[in-house]
Amino acid sequence: MAQASTSAIPPIHRVLFLNSTRDPYDISVVEQPTPQAVPGSAVIQILGAAVLSYAGDIFSGRKPYPYPTPFVPGSSAIGRVAGVGSDATKLEVGQLVYFDCYIHGRDDPDSSILHGLFYGFDPSSNKLMENEWRNGTYAEYSKVPLENCFPLDEQRLLGSPAEGGLGYNLADLSYLSKLAVPIGGLRVVDVRAGEKVIIAPATGAFGSAAVVAALAMGAQVIAVGRNLDALEKVKSLGPEGRVRTVQITGDVTHDVGELTKSGPADVFFDISPEQAAKSTHFTSCIQALGRGGRVSLMGPFMELSLPIMAMMGKDITVKCKFMYTKEDIRFMIRLVEAGDLKLGQAGGVQAAGLFPLEQFEAAFDTAAKMGGPGMQTIIAP
Ligand SMILES: NC(=O)c1ccc[n+]([C@@H]2O[C@H](COP(=O)([O-])OP(=O)(O)OC[C@H]3O[C@@H](n4cnc5c(N)ncnc54)[C@H](OP(=O)(O)O)[C@@H]3O)[C@@H](O)[C@H]2O)c1
Repeated sequence: MAQASTSAIPPIHRVLFLNSTRDPYDISVVEQPTPQAVPGSAVIQILGAAVLSYAGDIFSGRKPYPYPTPFVPGSSAIGRVAGVGSDATKLEVGQLVYFDCYIHGRDDPDSSILHGLFYGFDPSSNKLMENEWRNGTYAEYSKVPLENCFPLDEQRLLGSPAEGGLGYNLADLSYLSKLAVPIGGLRVVDVRAGEKVIIAPATGAFGSAAVVAALAMGAQVIAVGRNLDALEKVKSLGPEGRVRTVQITGDVTHDVGELTKSGPADVFFDISPEQAAKSTHFTSCIQALGRGGRVSLMGPFMELSLPIMAMMGKDITVKCKFMYTKEDIRFMIRLVEAGDLKLGQAGGVQAAGLFPLEQFEAAFDTAAKMGGPGMQTIIAP
């Protein structure tokens, strides 16, 4: 009979345990039995797990977010496979993987959660996080679905350039979790090489990752935001001339003029936070599109008002996108391994900080304060 395959996994491991949602935090580092790989799962040793700019708000309850308590927070991560269930066909112990936190029900792909972060939109999704996939990646080890582990070519990614490698480090690879989200939103509107893509706001964590991703997909980027200093940093994420910046002034006619200086755009990608719902950039960016333009909305709005007459007159398509598909993840990894999507210094991406579990508060603060263009914070247990 096929056996589960494991490396030497210690019986006990350290986790960041969120006991309840409380401000500031009801979180501590505790020891727990290490999870075991059962059929359908892998146990990965966590090398680095990403921290969201709003992690402190979510895990203190300042920003209402549904998740079961108690639990171990922490979502997408870079890990090394430490054990696989007996039904694993390709994953092997020791392999470097990107773990994607977007977990779907196997008997119902419409049920989904974000591991270690978000309970899902309905009761059947909630079930996924109540038991089997409750504990996330701010831990030394995490049990995750086999199909959410994406093998990485370690030699190519971490190897030295002299030997054909790209010379990345762990912190560089952790940026994949930021890139995956806008790649989902850019691909859902079929962004093609040479197209003009407006990205707004381009100065935040996911917006600036969208700039990096759109450039790698061959687009010309028009980066939009309120803050001129931050927009200057966004400009430096791309080679000379590939990123143009436009400030949101609140004057729609003026802003449309700036956006269309080199002709109408093909795509408008937005990943605004809820508080930007009344920003004038929605109208100006949509008005800057040419006939047949496409809009990809990834911001979590309760309500948003859009210039429907202008959209109707130009046959504009609007797509709303939550996260991405597995094919988007494979596409992203192919772009990175090919060297087209650049990480680390080469891509203008920097680690704001790498924190052990015990320093989770510093990690959350750093992610909130230094979540600007190309910055990322990582918890490395
Ligand atoms: N659809 C999905 O699957 C998905 C996945 C992940 C995240 N999200 C959502 O993405 C959003 C952004 O996350 P993030 O981590 O990138 O946040 P972030 O780093 O805090 O960035 C927020 C951005 O919004 C801009 N902004 C804030 N208030 C604004 C306003 N009133 N008008 C115009 N711009 C404003 C900021 O610009 P300034 O520089 O001018 O302050 C900044 O560029 C979150 O709300 C999150 O829920 C969606």
